[in-house]
Parts: sequence; C-alpha cells; structure tokens
Amino acid sequence: MTITDYFTETFRAEHRQVRDLLLALIAAFRAGDPRRISALVSALSAATGPHFRYEEEAMYPVLVSVFGREYVDKLLSDHDGTIRNVRELAELAELYRPADLYWPDEPDEAQAAWGIELTREILPHVSDCDGLSLMVETLPEDDVVHILATRDVARESNLDLLTWAGTVRGRHV
Ligand SMILES: [Fe+2]
Ligand SMILES: [Fe+2]
Repeated sequence: MTITDYFTETFRAEHRQVRDLLLALIAAFRAGDPRRISALVSALSAATGPHFRYEEEAMYPVLVSVFGREYVDKLLSDHDGTIRNVRELAELAELYRPADLYWPDEPDEAQAAWGIELTREILPHVSDCDGLSLMVETLPEDDVVHILATRDVARESNLDLLTWAGTVRGRHV
C-alpha cells in the first residue's frame, strides 16, 4: 500500500467514526436518553479534536495550492460552525448530566429537536471533508507524509475539540 492509499483509508475511517457518532447522537435525542447523549457528545468532541487539528495545521494549508484560498477559507468556516454546534451540544448535554443522586430528566421535545438540528448541521462537512482525499492523492508524497506526521502529533496531545478550539487553535469562534 502506498502512503497516499494509507492516508485515504485512515481519513475515511475517521470520517466514518464521526458519521456514526452523529447518527447515534440523533438516535439518542430521539430516544430521549440523557446518559447516551452526554456520552456521545463527549465522544464526538474527543474524536473531532485531533482530526480537525491536523486538517487545519497540515492538510488545509497544502490544499490551498489545489483549491485556492477562498475554498480553504470556507472549509475553515465550516469548522467554526462545527465547533459552535459541538459547544451548544455540550451545553445541552450538561442539562442531562447524570447527577450523583438523581436520575437525569429526559430532554423535552423542543430540546431534543434542537439537539437533532445541531447534530444534523455537522453532517455535511463530514462527507465534504472526506472528498478532500481525492485532491490529497494529487499532492507530492512529502505533503502526505507531513499530514500524517502532524496527525500523529495531534493524536499524541489528544485535545478534545472544545479544548483545542479554546486554546491552541487561535481562531476566535
Ligand atoms: Fe475531516
Ligand atoms: Fe474538516
């Protein structure tokens, strides 16, 4: 397997994982299951943190040579939107966080509908982003090696999305 094929497979697997978390979160809101909502929002922030980080630190910058600045700025704005939505989802999940002594309340219908909307808004970037590997395949192998090395570092620091967005990302959202 070439390094580029390895990248494409890895990238796809990460998007698949995020897709499944989002679909499970929609199901949890539908089922009104507060424990599952909390667990899935945390898992979503954990999974997207290192992923967004290596995309923004290594992959998006090299894609400027393919797409130009404007489209790469759009990708960054999509990330801004996702960060805002995950932040709102975390606030929503906080409402249901199981307390030590009490069973959490079930989300009411309006909260569940809002949670589903916030989650759905994230979905298009998952499929859009996955398509970027088609362009990464055209880049020199050195660029792909650099993306994967940046991925390793991001996974090592392992900041969840909201922590990363509030600290090292340095882009006000
Ligand atoms: Fe992505
Ligand atoms: Fe992305």
